[in-house]
Order: sequence, then structure tokens, then C-alpha cells
Amino acid sequence: MKERIHSKFVSLYGEGGVFYASAGRINLIGEHTDYNGGYVFPGAIDKGIIAEIKLNGTDKVRLYSLDYDASAIFGLEEEDKPAEQWARYIFGVCRETIKRGGQVAGFDAVFAGDVPLGAGLSSSAALESCFAYALNDLNHNGIDLFELARIGQSTEHNYCGVMCGIMDQFASCFGKKGQLIRLNCKTLEHQYFPFNPEGYKLVLLDTCVKHELASSAYNFRRQSCERAAAAIKENHPEVDFLSDCKRVWLDEVRDKISEEDFIRAEYVIGEVQRVLDVCDALERGDYETVGEMMYQTHFGLSRLYEVSCPELDFLAKLARKMEVTGSRVMGGGFGGCTINLVKDSLYDSFIAAAKEQYKAQFGIDLKVYDVVISDGARKLA
Ligand code: GLA
Repeated sequence: MKERIHSKFVSLYGEGGVFYASAGRINLIGEHTDYNGGYVFPGAIDKGIIAEIKLNGTDKVRLYSLDYDASAIFGLEEEDKPAEQWARYIFGVCRETIKRGGQVAGFDAVFAGDVPLGAGLSSSAALESCFAYALNDLNHNGIDLFELARIGQSTEHNYCGVMCGIMDQFASCFGKKGQLIRLNCKTLEHQYFPFNPEGYKLVLLDTCVKHELASSAYNFRRQSCERAAAAIKENHPEVDFLSDCKRVWLDEVRDKISEEDFIRAEYVIGEVQRVLDVCDALERGDYETVGEMMYQTHFGLSRLYEVSCPELDFLAKLARKMEVTGSRVMGGGFGGCTINLVKDSLYDSFIAAAKEQYKAQFGIDLKVYDVVISDGARKLA
């Protein structure tokens, strides 16, 4: 990928570029908890974005996306927002850097990626953190990694219309090879956990569907949670997020909030606890408990939070039937991947059955990704 990027870069902009990279992410457990101030448990993966970049001495940005085979040019003022959707992620990163007092000089860039799009692996966070990291370095801004992650998140909020939490950008900025990150999304305190489940594989099954309205439904889920937290706060002023709430506090407001908001909040409160339980189980090497929690999360995301879809439910159910250790929808939902913790001995038969039965049921070829937990945003040699 680096060679292809470089030859395009040289033909468009000449020599002198510097390479930067960043990564997509998986999340073992802790879904839709980030914007509720709860815990998540992600890691960066060996699929990401690579960009070659150099400052061009102008006040314009010139981009070339190898994957879209398309270019874009824009200025750095708020009114210069580009028409191309893909270029808005980078425009947003420039603007959010400037809003934080950083310098952004005009630059030229060619980039490409291998994070499957729409699969719930955060290709957009990979793009944001790659450029946030690169622009910080090239312009000597000295912005710390926490703020670089927030630059990516604010880009989603202010330029892409998704009111996401901090998980994806954090994982993409802070990812380390072989380590998952338990992140408290309220305080950004985090702890690395070595993840090398001997005798098991972590595999993603991509439904290859992305149902419409995913981002508007995402924003609605967030609003439900905020309404529930606000109602609880009337009784318990210390509550800022659903993650601050005890389960019984939710019961106290059952009559004050809609049934829908209630079940959304019920899921979130349970999920925050599951992350802690999974971390404890991991420290004991108890993968059976880890897997069981994954199934519980799937149930919650499907029945209470209602962000699953028939394709994802089908795969999680098949996993259960075949006695796979753990399986659940991963990421925002409405399509994308299930994440599966599978015993080595079961791996081949599970993958073969999943491919065959998924094709028979939906007429779609399932995609399978083995993931390796890897480094996040960085400069390449
Ligand atoms: C998307 C968002 C994240 C997070 C997950 C669900 O990936 O970008 O912030 O909310 O969904 O856990």
C-alpha cells in the first residue's frame, strides 16, 4: 500500500512527503457506553489508513484518495467545507485543530486504507486520527494524544453529523500492539490489558449489510439515554451520565420516562457493569465468562437497545448453536460485523458453517476478518 501511495504522491506532488498511519478498531465489550460516560474495551487493529503528506507553502489543502480514485482541494476557513463527503473528515480535522489554537499550514496528501468500509471497524476514526496526528507533528503544535482523539470526535459531531462517543478515536490514537484498552469514557483514565487468548481466536464476521438511517438512529439512541439520565438526576443530583446510575435509580423514574427510553437505559447500565466483569474474567484467564458476557451484550443490543438486524442476529444465533465461546454485534450496529471468540478447535468448522448458512439464508457472501491487535496513530519510518 505504501508503494502505491508513494508513486501517486510523487507523480502529483513530487518528493519530500512523510508517511503517517493509523488504525481501525475492534471492541471486545462495552457498546454504546462511551457517550454515556461508561467503560469500553477496544483495541486498534492491523487494518488502517496510511497517508503521505507534505506542507505545500500555500493556504490550500490538496488531497488524493487512492481508494476513491478522486481528488479534492479546499481552503482552511470554515466556509471552505468541501463537497466530497470523504474530504470532510480531513477538513473537519483541520478546522478542529485550528479551533484549539493549532496551526494548520496548507498541505498535499495521498492516502489509502484497508479498513473495510461500513463494517463497524471505524474507518472514519482511522482517517481522522491519522490526519490529526500528522498535522500536529508537521505543524509542531504539541497537542496531546487525548486532544487529538477529541479532534476526531468533534469532526464527527461538527462536520459529519454523528454524535459519537470517544471510543473509536481514542482506540485509534492510543492503540498498542497486543493490548486492549479499558477506557473510562468519563475521565479518560485507561489501562492496557495484554490480550493473547491462548487456544482461542478473535474473528469478525462481516454481514456486508449496512442498513439505512444508522447514523440518525444512533443519534436517537443517544437522546434516549440523555433523557433517562436527566430524569434520574432530578432524584440524584450527582448523576451526569447513565453510567453514574444504579439500576434501582432507573426503576424510580419508570413512570416518568417513556418505555423506550427505559429499556435503552436498562441496557446501558447493564453493559457498563459487563465491561468490568469481563476485565476481571480476563485477568483470571476465564474466557468462558468473557464469552458469556459477549452473548449477554448481543441480547441487550438486539432486544433492548434495538441496534441489531436479522443478519447479525442470525450469525450470533448460529455461533451460540455451535458452542462458540462468545459472539455479538460490534460497534454502532444496524449491520457491519459480529465479533466472535472461538476456540481454535472449532474455528474451521464454525467459519465454514457460517459462510454456507449465511449465503443460503441471505444470498450474501460473508466476509471473514482475523484481527491482530496493533499500534494506533504513528509516524512511519
Ligand atoms: C460507534 C461510535 C462509538 C460508539 C460505538 C458503539 O462506533 O462511533 O463512539 O458509540 O458506535 O459502542
